[in-house]
Amino acid sequence: MKDHAHNQPVVTVHYAQSLDGQIATCTGDSRWISSPATLTYAHALRAENQAVLVGVGTIIADDPRLTLRLVRGEQPRRVVLDSALRIPLGSMVLNDSAKASTVLITTPRASAERIVRLCAKGVDVVVVEESDDGKVCLASALECLSSFGIERVLVEGGNQTITSFLRAGLVSRLAICIAPLLIGKGVGAVGDLGVVRLAQAIRFQTAQWIPAGPDLIFEGKL
Ligand SMILES: NC(=O)c1ccc[n+]([C@@H]2O[C@H](COP(=O)([O-])OP(=O)(O)OC[C@H]3O[C@@H](n4cnc5c(N)ncnc54)[C@H](OP(=O)(O)O)[C@@H]3O)[C@@H](O)[C@H]2O)c1
Repeated sequence: MKDHAHNQPVVTVHYAQSLDGQIATCTGDSRWISSPATLTYAHALRAENQAVLVGVGTIIADDPRLTLRLVRGEQPRRVVLDSALRIPLGSMVLNDSAKASTVLITTPRASAERIVRLCAKGVDVVVVEESDDGKVCLASALECLSSFGIERVLVEGGNQTITSFLRAGLVSRLAICIAPLLIGKGVGAVGDLGVVRLAQAIRFQTAQWIPAGPDLIFEGKL
């Protein structure tokens, strides 16, 4: 289902956090915060969406496969926001194209040589405009995904990508797995949203809490 008002795919944000709101330790270690029960839920979310999107920071930290494995369904496209194409050439998403296709969304800052090198690996590289802070413009990225026929996108992290989508008001639904552990100083789930008064806080139209083994899943519509 598209967001017809803006001709953009509908965006769901999903991540797993500790009780104190961290998605990784201070060294970037995030595997695994949630229990096997919530990992299955995470894969079911992937199955509902036609694309799974992360920032290049998550690729560098975790080298994830971003494929559907724990439930049946069609493999979503893997999408990476990477404004200068600094993705490591050995990354899983660049080297297992038989499992799922990958789209790198970049900006005019990426070199032509790098684009050619990455296209030779069988991935799609799309250049869109830069945002004011020199990153990939999210509205343009979503338009590009729409042109691929993608109507539902699952944003899986990390901190900067989640924050950018929320700040831009592009998120329709949030699904957070909350696991019973404390990390302390680490990588927070959400960064600066520009909220200085509680009246500006993001609130939900619906809120549902689902127990999943030792974890709790929060689902909310915005
Ligand atoms: N627990 C979980 O569910 C979970 C899930 C995912 C990740 N993580 C953790 O999150 C950490 C990585 O977080 P992160 O914030 O460093 O990485 P990230 O959000 O995955 O990637 C951030 C990078 O993406 C690029 N980017 C391009 N356009 C962007 C835009 N419009 N908005 C935001 N980013 C954009 C930027 O790099 P360029 O400027 O080079 O383009 C930016 O530095 C890792 O420790 C990982 O383990 C945890």
